[in-house]
Amino acid sequence: MGHEPPPSWAEQRAHLRDELAAIEAAGRLRRRVTIDSHAGRSIVVADGGKRQRLINWASNDYLGLASDLGVSNGASKALRRYGPGSTAARLLAGGPRCHRRLEERLAAWLGTEDCLLTTTGYQANCAALVALAGEVECAVILDRLCHASTYDGTKLSNGQLLRFKHNDVDDLTHRLDQTEGAPRRIVCVESVYSMDGDEAPLAAIHELCRRRGALLVVDEAHALGVFGPGGRGRCAESGVKPDLIVGTCSKSLAAQGGFVCGDRELVSLVANLGRAFIFSTAPVPAASGAAVAALDALRDRPELPGVLMQAAHELRMQLRRQGWNIPEGRSPIIPVIVGDETETLRLAQRLRDAGHWTPAIRPPTVPPGQCRLRITITATHTPADRRKLVAAMAGVREATKA
Ligand SMILES: Cc1ncc(COP(=O)(O)O)c(C=O)c1O
Repeated sequence: MGHEPPPSWAEQRAHLRDELAAIEAAGRLRRRVTIDSHAGRSIVVADGGKRQRLINWASNDYLGLASDLGVSNGASKALRRYGPGSTAARLLAGGPRCHRRLEERLAAWLGTEDCLLTTTGYQANCAALVALAGEVECAVILDRLCHASTYDGTKLSNGQLLRFKHNDVDDLTHRLDQTEGAPRRIVCVESVYSMDGDEAPLAAIHELCRRRGALLVVDEAHALGVFGPGGRGRCAESGVKPDLIVGTCSKSLAAQGGFVCGDRELVSLVANLGRAFIFSTAPVPAASGAAVAALDALRDRPELPGVLMQAAHELRMQLRRQGWNIPEGRSPIIPVIVGDETETLRLAQRLRDAGHWTPAIRPPTVPPGQCRLRITITATHTPADRRKLVAAMAGVREATKA
């Protein structure tokens, strides 16, 4: 290293080009696909000069509120009243009343003392974990399948990252044994896992954390609006009160913005130490206006989660009967595990040719060999949409066998 001349700008650029070429050679180059329509149950995908209307099985808009007029009106009202942007970080310049109103609504909904809004759910996890880890040499113990934002939040924190086997309470116990002397231990799980749709054993994990003196953070991104009384999530359903609940308005609430709910003290800690909150401009006012209207819609139509769960159950059963590898579960996330990457891409393309948008999920989102189609059903999909998907999946399956 000592006498070698440092690489030139051109050499560094060539190296970066090689890295991109390696991604492409591995068949993993990602492209941004443009949608030329409202992001509802059916979308127009504009790709390579072609426009194609497809039934959308890719969104996390579980309750279908992205197509709700009241929710759009909530966004418009906030836009007109407070303007298009928030102009600065909240601690610097303050924030529009609609942000505080949303925080109050979310805290009341989830039964916590307070709530802090962040610009995205990704940032909510980063802010929460950085703040909880603080300055001590703590251990942050994540379920192996936790979302990238919890991994990245841990890396940004002063904590040491440990992982336990997915949903394995014995392995978590082992990690807690290993970190017995640490001045602080933080366990983080998702109540519903984003790519598998399966559920954490929350009651057992909560009990273990309490008994072993570890703090617990539960990411309810994919459970809110879907599970629990009034869509209040799996913590409410399981009677579990973690130290912090993390959520996002970008899924069932059809808007944008993340949040951290908990007691006043911890929420204030996140507001004071969570750099992803402190150093980022607050969400646009329209996002909070939309999220509040989505909470209103959920309150006024309490039957929505039940209708969704029933539709999810029926679709899951119909597809399982065709012989696909679909794990049991309750959630509207229905993973069709294929394994091989090329095969998964081919299936996604065949379904697209048949009029369905079912994204292929590949590494790094899932481990190698675990590629899958991730089908999400929403409350706005009609029985006819479901029949069409089931027929297309049957056709694809026959073609695969042939
Ligand atoms: C479990 C989980 N947590 C956090 C996030 C981040 O939320 P957002 O998209 O609002 O940044 C996501 C999704 O993207 C997620 O699936």
